[in-house]
Amino acid sequence: MKIEQLKNIVVPLLDWYHNNSRKLPWRESKDPYRIWVSEIMLQQTRVEAVLSYYERFMEHFPTVESLAACDDEVLFKLWEGLGYYTRARNLKKAAQIICTHFQGQFPRQFDQILALPGIGAYTAGAIASIAFEQAKAAVDGNVLRVITRLTQDNHDITDAKFRNKITEALEECYPKRHRGDFTQSLMELGAVVCVPNGVPQCSSCPINQFCDAYTNKTQLLYPVRKKKAARKVEKKTIFILCFEEKIALRKREADGVLSGMWELPNQEGALTRQQVCQWLAERGLMADTIKEPSNKKKQLKHIFTHIEWHMTYWVIVCNTTGIDQNFVWVTNEQLEQDLALPTAFKKVYQAALQENFVCKRI
Ligand code: ADE
Repeated sequence: MKIEQLKNIVVPLLDWYHNNSRKLPWRESKDPYRIWVSEIMLQQTRVEAVLSYYERFMEHFPTVESLAACDDEVLFKLWEGLGYYTRARNLKKAAQIICTHFQGQFPRQFDQILALPGIGAYTAGAIASIAFEQAKAAVDGNVLRVITRLTQDNHDITDAKFRNKITEALEECYPKRHRGDFTQSLMELGAVVCVPNGVPQCSSCPINQFCDAYTNKTQLLYPVRKKKAARKVEKKTIFILCFEEKIALRKREADGVLSGMWELPNQEGALTRQQVCQWLAERGLMADTIKEPSNKKKQLKHIFTHIEWHMTYWVIVCNTTGIDQNFVWVTNEQLEQDLALPTAFKKVYQAALQENFVCKRI
């Protein structure tokens, strides 16, 4: 990594950031709690999507103590739609540790920050620099793109050793003041100028005169990323079981994707009508009506990081609640107001509603 080249960018980037940064709610204070929550939400989620969640979360949990003491169901409901619920679970765990081990004060030492659940090198660097003005870098995809374009670096950005090298090189360049701003200026440049999809806005880039990729018109060749393994496709049959004005939910297993979250009852594979009847019989469920979607080809897809679900669904109007002790029968109001149903299942439920399958009052 060419340190001298990196040193060149500090002042122009800071100037640019001071004149052009977006006004975002977590930039309004230096409160480590507020900065931490924003960084967790922003992992894997775009700024625009985070904004409304963030404000609502802060209203419900204005302090680390309120988060540590929160009800899981309320926490997940506030997180509903953001995905990666482990992030929310870890936020609460870390809040509890901060309350019990650090008297409610967010730790300042980098290693102590890094040791909290859900906090990796990137997030620890972001908190240490933004909240505590330490010379710590936060190297995410945006920053990797900026730096590999700037230096025309062909290393694979998924390689942790390479990310560490960039982190170390950047940390040698951190300014004496405005360290948090420097961290955010790199993120900001990657988000709004040196963009990932489409053409980067090089003519308005404050560091274009130092950028090798700009000079050589090779911007689109960077960053270099090893090809990802294809996602595994899993077929699922989802059941919307209706009884009177309620539908059945159950909790997912404690491990695996969406662990411990609510789900619509479901079964591996794309079941035939006969298999559906058998599935119902095994649970003591008597069906008044069994309906499948009018357009059977219309599979619903949901994409996770490493897995893709291809879902078909059946709406079963039952005349008993059966014998499966795992089912919890809930009203539509409970589902809307109190329970967090992950987006994969929400999609199915919405599709069923659109087909007018579910009794209106459910
Ligand atoms: N993405 C990750 N952290 C961010 C921040 N502090 N501001 C804007 N986008 C971000």
